Amino acid sequence: MVLFNAIAGFSLASIALASPPQLHARQNASSPCAQVSASVAAQAAVAVATPTVAASLAYSCITSVPFNQSAALDLLASIVPYFRWQSNTVWLKDPPKEYAEKVQPAVDIWGGLKEIKSKAESGSYDNEFDFGFELYTLLQSTHDGHFVFVPDVVGTVFNWARPVPLVSISNGKDLPKPFVYPDVLAEVLGNTTFTPSAITKINGEDALEYLEKVAQRGSLQDRDALYNNVFYQLAAVSLGPTGSGIGTFAGSGRGRWVYPGPETKLEFENGTSITYTNFARVLIPFDGISSGEYLYSKWFTESELIETEAESAPAPSNSSTPTASSLPAPGYPPPVIREENNLIGGYYLEKDYSDVAVLSVPSFVGIEAQVQFQQTAEKFLGAAKAAGKKKLIIDVSANGGGTILLGYDLYKLLFPRGVGHAAGDRFRAFESTDLLGHKFSKVAEGLPRELADPEQNETLYNLQYDVVSSIFNYQTDVDVNDENFESWEDKFGPVKVKGDNFSSLIRWNLSDVETPLNSGGIFVHGYGKLTNYTQPFAAEDIVVVSDGYCASTCTIFSELMRQRAGVKYISLGGRAKPGITQAVGGVKGTNNFPWDSIQFLAQYTITNLSSTPKEAQYYNSTELGEYWSKTPFVRQAIGSSINVNFRDGIRDGDETQTPLQFVYEAADCRILYTKEMTVDITAIWKAAADSTWGGKSHCIAGDLGGYGKKTNRRSRTAEDKVLERRMKQWRKSLNVADYPLDLYTDLTKARLDMNGYMWP
Ligand SMILES: *[C@@H]1O[C@H](CO)[C@@H](O)[C@H](O)[C@H]1NC(C)=O
Ligand SMILES: *[C@@H]1O[C@H](CO)[C@@H](O)[C@H](O)[C@H]1NC(C)=O
Ligand SMILES: *[C@@H]1O[C@H](CO)[C@@H](O)[C@H](O)[C@H]1NC(C)=O
Ligand SMILES: *[C@@H]1O[C@H](CO)[C@@H](O)[C@H](O)[C@H]1NC(C)=O
Ligand SMILES: *[C@@H]1O[C@H](CO)[C@@H](O)[C@H](O)[C@H]1NC(C)=O
Ligand SMILES: *[C@@H]1O[C@H](CO)[C@@H](O)[C@H](O)[C@H]1NC(C)=O
Ligand SMILES: *[C@@H]1O[C@H](CO)[C@@H](O)[C@H](O)[C@H]1NC(C)=O
Ligand SMILES: *[C@@H]1O[C@H](CO)[C@@H](O)[C@H](O)[C@H]1NC(C)=O
Ligand SMILES: *[C@@H]1O[C@H](CO)[C@@H](O)[C@H](O)[C@H]1NC(C)=O
Ligand SMILES: *[C@@H]1O[C@H](CO)[C@@H](O)[C@H](O)[C@H]1NC(C)=O
Ligand SMILES: *[C@@H]1O[C@H](CO)[C@@H](O)[C@H](O)[C@H]1NC(C)=O
Repeated sequence: MVLFNAIAGFSLASIALASPPQLHARQNASSPCAQVSASVAAQAAVAVATPTVAASLAYSCITSVPFNQSAALDLLASIVPYFRWQSNTVWLKDPPKEYAEKVQPAVDIWGGLKEIKSKAESGSYDNEFDFGFELYTLLQSTHDGHFVFVPDVVGTVFNWARPVPLVSISNGKDLPKPFVYPDVLAEVLGNTTFTPSAITKINGEDALEYLEKVAQRGSLQDRDALYNNVFYQLAAVSLGPTGSGIGTFAGSGRGRWVYPGPETKLEFENGTSITYTNFARVLIPFDGISSGEYLYSKWFTESELIETEAESAPAPSNSSTPTASSLPAPGYPPPVIREENNLIGGYYLEKDYSDVAVLSVPSFVGIEAQVQFQQTAEKFLGAAKAAGKKKLIIDVSANGGGTILLGYDLYKLLFPRGVGHAAGDRFRAFESTDLLGHKFSKVAEGLPRELADPEQNETLYNLQYDVVSSIFNYQTDVDVNDENFESWEDKFGPVKVKGDNFSSLIRWNLSDVETPLNSGGIFVHGYGKLTNYTQPFAAEDIVVVSDGYCASTCTIFSELMRQRAGVKYISLGGRAKPGITQAVGGVKGTNNFPWDSIQFLAQYTITNLSSTPKEAQYYNSTELGEYWSKTPFVRQAIGSSINVNFRDGIRDGDETQTPLQFVYEAADCRILYTKEMTVDITAIWKAAADSTWGGKSHCIAGDLGGYGKKTNRRSRTAEDKVLERRMKQWRKSLNVADYPLDLYTDLTKARLDMNGYMWP
């Protein structure tokens, strides 16, 4: 994640909603979009928050938007400069054999883009949606969660949904089967006479095959992680609307952008079947929208949107978190301490598990809560030690990453003397990155490297934020020998690998005085003022559990925990196939770059860093002059993020220099989800504790080595007895109504501009 204090982006949501729609001349009451409009109006009359219509009607409406050839070609041209920043296109085109066999097939990004362009040129798209969805799918098919562009026609108007979330569960030994989640909830919480029946077929197809296809529409690369993401997950639910919610099957996360067909027919083992009508959420005002043509002119053209841009510059944010209210976390026990957005929380377990502490980390923070995150981790580990806890479970389920240096910080809190880099990082070496590096390095040479006080000299502070601490300054970061680079040329390379050019390998300089400018305000434990920390737990007393969603910063943290510290990893769930699975199944690129950050860098070099008009003119005539177009930002779906993967991580000593994204890595143990685990998260943690230290393995594949001896339980303390009572009360209080079935991914309130993060 990269943070910029100078915000050059603008909020599309407020722009697009700013001008009220006018009545269109060609009213057609029978057109699908007019029918949507009428239905939305009727729902507004009874004050429905987000109106919905039948999925089939929404699909008829969105596919009635005509294809605009010249606008499509303009969009395709405008995205090319940003695609150049994507670090791994040569590996995507020709991935290692093991990746292609076990993970995902090859994707030719540049070839695919060319194909879409020639189809646009020959006018072979029936409508705008066919075009937009093909473009979306080209990026999604890379299964690189950092490579995202969602065209307006795919995500601005409708989000798709199925009215029932599912779970995939087993008795802990046999391969899992899919179930309707509310059935499982009813069985586990109270209705003892009810026995849910497994789903055998969906829309007439074998259920497992159908769900694996649904899974492939997700953003992760690992197929078992993708499969888990289809279902209701307590960790994802605890993140509220900024998580992947109730699963892609029901329309959360990436499921919201894929038309699920008109209905979903489920057939069960007990012989019954149920048919559900799929639906779409209507995300924009629909009054006066009488046709696909009108929808196009109102929502998918630049002219409409640019008018109001000036008014909608974002207010500089100084708040610690966007939402002050605590989010519910159904199925989680009372915490010892928990960050208010549930990004991190600490828990204790009772009875036989009274020596176990659990740190639940479903996010490394994509919002301004870095300081709170760090404090929560530090306080909880201190409290756990003080309370005499001997073992630590870290649950990274649902963790799509966040601030890179928080991943480093959590590892360094646990292993203060551990090796200080996860991998060697590098980016694509090409004209844009070279020009930026030369200029930024030159400007930085005239400035001090320190933490300026913004109150004292705001200009200097901004320069340190934007230029001095930037990766494009050669004085930032260190080389593979932990030494400073001597010049931009030294840092830039280029190094030729697999026919493409890359920078030299770089590492974070965690002693850097400017670290807070890259970390959202924190210093990293183990460095500078934060050196006086002792390791709280031995590596063999820690285990990490994961549903595989672990992406981005979570994969950096995992590389540090596994490769550096030797901590064991447990993967949960997965497809109904035997054998071991990966615990880390999300994008392993080591830095996500939002396109508005890239545009800012280019424009800032031309308009702000150039010392003469002649120099500005020079930069404007280079590749840096190719980022002026507003088209990608205007044509992006409201409430979506646009990103590329900027840095790859290369493991120390890997002679093939393969980005970690393409390296397959089995977990140490695989545990299947049981019914209880989908309702009470402590069931997962207890199975992890048993398998790691308790002498009772739940691993259906892999094992946790020599740890499996039952440790001597300590005698119960007064605190233990209080906790036992509290846990008993909590379990009794669990109620079906507390598990939301209508929680959907909604990023319109998240601050997406400049925040590089794998949003769901
Ligand atoms: C009205 O919409 C219907 C259904 O899309 C279409 O068949 C018809 O041609 C439209 N009429 C006019 C006048 O646009
Ligand atoms: C198609 O897009 C172009 C911009 O490329 C725009 O000028 C034109 O008005 C659009 N056509 C329609 C029918 O909206
Ligand atoms: C238990 O489930 C049955 C069958 O779905 C239902 O008729 C009954 O009302 C439920 N009882 C409770 C207490 O929820
Ligand atoms: C069969 O199982 C489904 C799914 O659990 C359930 O909804 C339905 O009520 C069951 N039917 C019978 C006849 O038990
Ligand atoms: C911004 O936050 C800081 C630290 O919380 C505070 O001292 C300062 O007054 C705030 N500034 C504004 C403009 O709210
Ligand atoms: C603030 O910093 C800038 C850049 O180093 C410098 O040119 C300027 O003189 C400083 N202003 C003050 C008031 O110190
Ligand atoms: C790599 O850099 C060399 C010059 O150093 C250049 O000739 C070549 O075209 C570059 N390759 C790519 C794929 O950009
Ligand atoms: C890291 O940063 C510090 C402070 O900014 C600097 O003094 C040092 O030279 C840098 N490099 C290394 C290798 O520590
Ligand atoms: C380091 O921590 C220890 C134990 O907490 C404390 O006694 C000592 O004073 C600390 N040293 C410094 C330099 O802060
Ligand atoms: C760049 O320059 C423009 C115009 O001089 C100014 O409005 C803007 O604030 C500057 N941007 C930054 C990030 O300094
Ligand atoms: C950059 O060049 C474009 C033409 O390619 C021109 O429209 C624009 O005004 C120039 N901007 C600056 C700041 O020179």
